[in-house]
Amino acid sequence: MLPFPKISFWTTKEKSSLNVEIGKKVILTGMQPTGKLHLGGLLGAINNWQKMLDDYDCLFFLADQHAITMPYIPAELRKNTLDCVAQYIACGLDPERCKIFLQSQVIGHTELMWILGCITSVGQLERMTQFKDKSKKVGESVCSGLLYYPVLMMADILLYNADLVPIGEDQKQHLEITRNIAQKFNNTYSETFVLPEPYIGKTGARIMSLQDPTAKMSKSDKNQSTVVYIADPDPVIRKKIMGAVTDSDNRIYFDQENKPGISNLLNIYAATTDQSMEKSVAQFADLTSYAPFKQAVADAVIAKISPIRNKYLEIANDGKYLLSVLNAGKEEAQKRANKMMAKVYRKVGFLLD
Ligand code: TYM
Repeated sequence: MLPFPKISFWTTKEKSSLNVEIGKKVILTGMQPTGKLHLGGLLGAINNWQKMLDDYDCLFFLADQHAITMPYIPAELRKNTLDCVAQYIACGLDPERCKIFLQSQVIGHTELMWILGCITSVGQLERMTQFKDKSKKVGESVCSGLLYYPVLMMADILLYNADLVPIGEDQKQHLEITRNIAQKFNNTYSETFVLPEPYIGKTGARIMSLQDPTAKMSKSDKNQSTVVYIADPDPVIRKKIMGAVTDSDNRIYFDQENKPGISNLLNIYAATTDQSMEKSVAQFADLTSYAPFKQAVADAVIAKISPIRNKYLEIANDGKYLLSVLNAGKEEAQKRANKMMAKVYRKVGFLLD
């Protein structure tokens, strides 16, 4: 039996029955629960999300279906998924003020992915930078799930009619293709989806590796001194930042091309302290050596991360609580997904019983 009820469009009444706050725009975004949260994910993503809780209708999910597009260990995925919920909450995503749910627990993501895949060309998917980069690493055996990755991402977003999608810069191309395919669906089957806007923070949108500031900070980096995790103890954070690669010029200003190491640290400082880049640069303009600057960056990062780590350690082992958060999120997300899927199924010509 189809799980989707026979409802063909959103009305104000329907929205109120779904706890959608009328007048508030819908924010949706997610993260792969692939392990420990690092400074890139914190500053490029969650830090912005938690500022939106009061002004938007916020849906935050864990993209566990995306996480299996690369080699992984099932038991670790299960553990990391609950860990990721704990990290979300520790970073300020208060489950009383937003919905937190798991992609694989809501029926609709993969169903909508299939339909959107039927109007997305293989050429478009093969041209996606992330597919090209990741498939280079895996070679011939690259799985088709990796090619389909952006279509699942489109489905995640369009299933909830998200107005705004906060992301780091690396996900921008995925948003562009989402808008493109949403528009194509609307043109083909009549107006259905809102065209989502990306939200990319002015600072923190691309945090780079501490040892190779031309590459993105990433948990898959073999050299772990390049990545600061929110679970790192304070002395480890300080050591990693003090050891960050810079240059020999001893002057502090932002120049991504010629001073990528210093520019990355400035970016980290600005995003961590919630200051503009201009103000951050002005603060260090008189220094003639890098050590005090790095100390200031380390102090700021530790001040930001310590309370998050403490909260994380407090709730990380409370599986019952974390599952209850996911259950509440799932219930609400499923209601919304059902409505959208009923609408989409009708538009594409599937029979609803
Ligand atoms: P993921 O799990 O790779 O990253 C989660 C978020 O963190 C941002 N991010 C960074 N920002 C700045 N500097 C970095 N070094 C850095 N590393 C990661 C990412 O841009 C992202 O916003 N495909 C997505 C998950 C996803 C999703 C979606 C997001 C699936 N469906 C729908 C939004 C909407 C991903 O793998 O993110």
